[in-house]
Amino acid sequence: MTDPASPQDGRPRVLTGDTPTGRLHLGHYVGSIENRLRLQADHECYFLLANLHAFTTRADRPDDIRRDTLEIVKDWLACGVDPSRSAIVLQSEVPAIAELTWFFAMLIPFNRVMRNPTLKTEIEAKGLGDRYPFGFPMYAVGQCADILAFRPAYVPVGEDQVAHIEMCREVARRFDQVYCGVDPHCEDDDYPARGGVFPIPRAMVGRVGRLVGADGKQKMSKSLGNAIFLSDTPKQVKKKIGGMHPGQSRQPDEPGDPDINPVFTYADIFIKDRALVDALKDRYRRGDNLGDGHVKAAVIDAVNELLEPIRARRAEYEGPGGDDLVIDIIRDGTARANALTEETLWSAKEAMRLGFWRRALVARP
Ligand code: TRP
Repeated sequence: MTDPASPQDGRPRVLTGDTPTGRLHLGHYVGSIENRLRLQADHECYFLLANLHAFTTRADRPDDIRRDTLEIVKDWLACGVDPSRSAIVLQSEVPAIAELTWFFAMLIPFNRVMRNPTLKTEIEAKGLGDRYPFGFPMYAVGQCADILAFRPAYVPVGEDQVAHIEMCREVARRFDQVYCGVDPHCEDDDYPARGGVFPIPRAMVGRVGRLVGADGKQKMSKSLGNAIFLSDTPKQVKKKIGGMHPGQSRQPDEPGDPDINPVFTYADIFIKDRALVDALKDRYRRGDNLGDGHVKAAVIDAVNELLEPIRARRAEYEGPGGDDLVIDIIRDGTARANALTEETLWSAKEAMRLGFWRRALVARP
């Protein structure tokens, strides 16, 4: 039998995921989705729907979580994630993740988890105070299991997730040292060759680590109300970008500074024609009769050009039967994930002297 854990074709493996909290926006696109689309051409990709993580802050809203889970798949498919090449995986049906979470929870000090800067920021941003459930900080350990269950080489994420990946790398090293006898002084890349069950995966941050929102100030985020969604209509895009503050007050014939104007940040990111962007900046600096409306119009066109095919593909899944189509796709991806993660779990159990007998996991259609 071929071991699904070591692909014969030698393509490096990639795992990443999203917590279903609502529709995806432009920040997700340039921070991570773009990378995934590029990677799926020549990597073995698994994209995880972290639906259990959604319960850490919304345990009382199961209907919303179910809806958001299916919506996010529609966003992925609309962006061009190809389910025949990449597995779309439902976290709640991958038991190995839950089991590895328990193992890993013993390998990381509680205080280390609580010092995780991403968790701290989230507690502040969401105003959780000290009323968050036990499961909230636990999700950071769970995320180590999400990743390591797949033994990936790379984890494409937005900048905000890098602290989680760092924790995951610590857990992987620790497991390999404690249970597989890997020398703590060896290089990260050598862990598997030295007998470690887990590779030490690398974060891969997108070309834009942090996209400013339509308010021109804070990071784009659904909860801050400054997001431009991938499913926004051309009219909504026009309204949101049209309403952006240029960061300075000037007349079209007065010199301006494009570097402090968030509309130019968008121009840099979304307008493909570099020469056009440079020309606009030049005219802006000189105050050469260039109104802010003109720059915005160019950005609005570029964003709509990016979103148009995404909207069109999304429409295919929006009608009746769309949810069933999505569920078929995630059932298939999850079965592929279970073949791989059950192998990982068995190797981990053997290393922990828990390998008493093997089990067969059957997923019924
Ligand atoms: N925590 C991530 C976020 O909020 C989502 C996520 C869950 C994830 N599990 C993952 C990302 C594993 C990368 C790898 O966006």
